[in-house]
Amino acid sequence: MSPQDDRIWTSLPVPAVVLDAEDRILRLNPAGEGFLMSSARAVQGEPVWDRLAVDAPLESALARARRDRTPLFVNDVDIGTGDRAPVQCNLQIAPLAGPGEEMILLISPRELAGRVSQGQSVKSAARSAIGMAEMLAHEIKNPLAGITGAAQLLSMNLGSADLELTDLIVSESRRIVSLLEQVEQFGNVANPRMRAVNIHDVLDRARRSAVVGFAAHMRVQEDYDPSLPLAWGDADQLVQVVLNLLKNAAEAAGEGGGTIRLRSYYEQSLRVRGGDGAGKSLPLQVEIIDDGPGLPPEIAAEAFEPFVSGRENGTGLGLALAAKIISDHDGWISVNSAPGRTVFRVSLPLAPRLAEES
Ligand SMILES: Nc1ncnc2c1ncn2[C@@H]1O[C@H](COP(=O)(O)OP(=O)(O)O)[C@@H](O)[C@H]1O
Ligand SMILES: [Mg+2]
Repeated sequence: MSPQDDRIWTSLPVPAVVLDAEDRILRLNPAGEGFLMSSARAVQGEPVWDRLAVDAPLESALARARRDRTPLFVNDVDIGTGDRAPVQCNLQIAPLAGPGEEMILLISPRELAGRVSQGQSVKSAARSAIGMAEMLAHEIKNPLAGITGAAQLLSMNLGSADLELTDLIVSESRRIVSLLEQVEQFGNVANPRMRAVNIHDVLDRARRSAVVGFAAHMRVQEDYDPSLPLAWGDADQLVQVVLNLLKNAAEAAGEGGGTIRLRSYYEQSLRVRGGDGAGKSLPLQVEIIDDGPGLPPEIAAEAFEPFVSGRENGTGLGLALAAKIISDHDGWISVNSAPGRTVFRVSLPLAPRLAEES
């Protein structure tokens, strides 16, 4: 490729892959790296259909396009990658000009570019739903306090059978109040105060508070890359994110318990496209991995949306809050879940001075 071609390839705003004659990945542009959440180097030579789970039988159509040297357009296919729920995409496939049997594959996610839009849509959906919920929460909390107080007054003159009823009023009201407080907390998250933070301190803080509380029944293993450079973020907010993820893992495991693995590693090539179109590097990776039952399939696609919960008493705010915080950090959060192995991955930027040097 000429330097000019190289620049075109790198600038292509849609994920693009060049396939060899056997449908293995030859090249992957930066948007494609973002889409696959993997570096070009890491996937080079891999069969493309190992990396892209497509819900349509494409192989024969692709073979035909290759043989006849004609382009192929496929609309509205669900494409999953190892790291997240399927995204609806349009595919454009064409033989690469020249003598070989290479094909070029362009993937246009229908909900805009997957990675960046996730953060944006979470933000806006969260904002409207949360604005409303916050107002309601505020309005409901005051009368609830009145109801609780009245029930307590009543209970002073009651026999034990009736006391059960007033106790029920009090305990259920408390439950609603704590739910409402979570809604309010969601609205109150300030903009992050960015500092250079040691991710392992964040993980340790979250782990220590989890294991004496909601995760007491879990084994928590650490698998850290000790050479990981500092991240750019708000340590308190990041602790909140990790706590929410740990809490979900602990709740998914149920009373029998299970194992949570906290993993950190560096992946230099991971980039997202920022709002300005510039590639932004997110090399710091944190994974919270559990061996529980996995996300309920019916909510997997919108688990990060507010008020989406698979649990009876869930608020559906834990992941929405995590997504909001990470998106305020210009980071990325994704999930890859199957029964027995659920991985939440948080990708964060380097602290600025380090980012310039690398
Ligand atoms: N590690 C996990 N394993 C299985 N399911 C999970 C996990 N994390 C989240 N979930 C599912 O995603 C849903 C949404 O999580 P969250 O936003 O924290 O809300 P909540 O915990 O209040 O239900 C949960 O109700 C649960 O069904
Ligand atoms: Mg939760």
